Amino acid sequence: MVTLGLNIDHVATLREVRKDIVPNLLKAAQEGVRGGAKGITVHLREDRRHIQDRDVFILKQAIKVPLNLEMSIAPNVVRVALHIKPEKACLVPEKRKELTTEGGLDLRHAQRQIATVVNQLKKKGVTVSLFIDPEPAQLRVASEVNADFIELHTGVYARTRGSQRKRELKRLRDAAEYAHELGLGVNAGHGLNYENVKPVAQLPCVEELNIGHAIIARAVFVGIRKAVSEMIYSMR
Ligand code: PXP
Repeated sequence: MVTLGLNIDHVATLREVRKDIVPNLLKAAQEGVRGGAKGITVHLREDRRHIQDRDVFILKQAIKVPLNLEMSIAPNVVRVALHIKPEKACLVPEKRKELTTEGGLDLRHAQRQIATVVNQLKKKGVTVSLFIDPEPAQLRVASEVNADFIELHTGVYARTRGSQRKRELKRLRDAAEYAHELGLGVNAGHGLNYENVKPVAQLPCVEELNIGHAIIARAVFVGIRKAVSEMIYSMR
């Protein structure tokens, strides 16, 4: 059964607009776990616009489910990851001005650097995933650099409709099956919400969906625990 990893970046976004101590990020994570999330995800961005180094440290110490750290391969982020050793890391591309991660990693153009970071993290016992578009060439490189998992970028699926969305869902399905053949674990995420999540949750070989924005937006009205349990209901 596919599980939910709850991304709580936007709880920290709300805190950081005032540089305050509320809302409390750890409590948000714990509420998410009570709602049924099987993992907590945070993205330590290079500009530290929401999640801070101490958040990653506190979550790693205190939560009872695996912590998944989304991260670029920038040295000042890799250093933190190697020190804190989250259970999981997902390497993502990062641009300073973007509102959120805009596309998958282009593994072919940064293969050597990515291979180095994958290797450094794995040596510390971190399970490493690579966030990529559903393209066979990217999957082959993910396998070559020794990643444990790939996270399929569902952003295009999420923002298209009709036949285009159907085509994109097929691309995701083919990629999930090919990744499985290559011996890679498969996760997926980005842009998923209560309406579009089910077909992705039903894809073969997908183990975990990482979802943030839609759940935190819903939580404003119903609280995190309920927003998470409603998402799990939508997935099934
Ligand atoms: N997966 C990755 C790699 C991401 O960068 C993000 C956004 O932080 C997500 C999943 C979650 O996306 P969303 O907030 O749109 O659910």
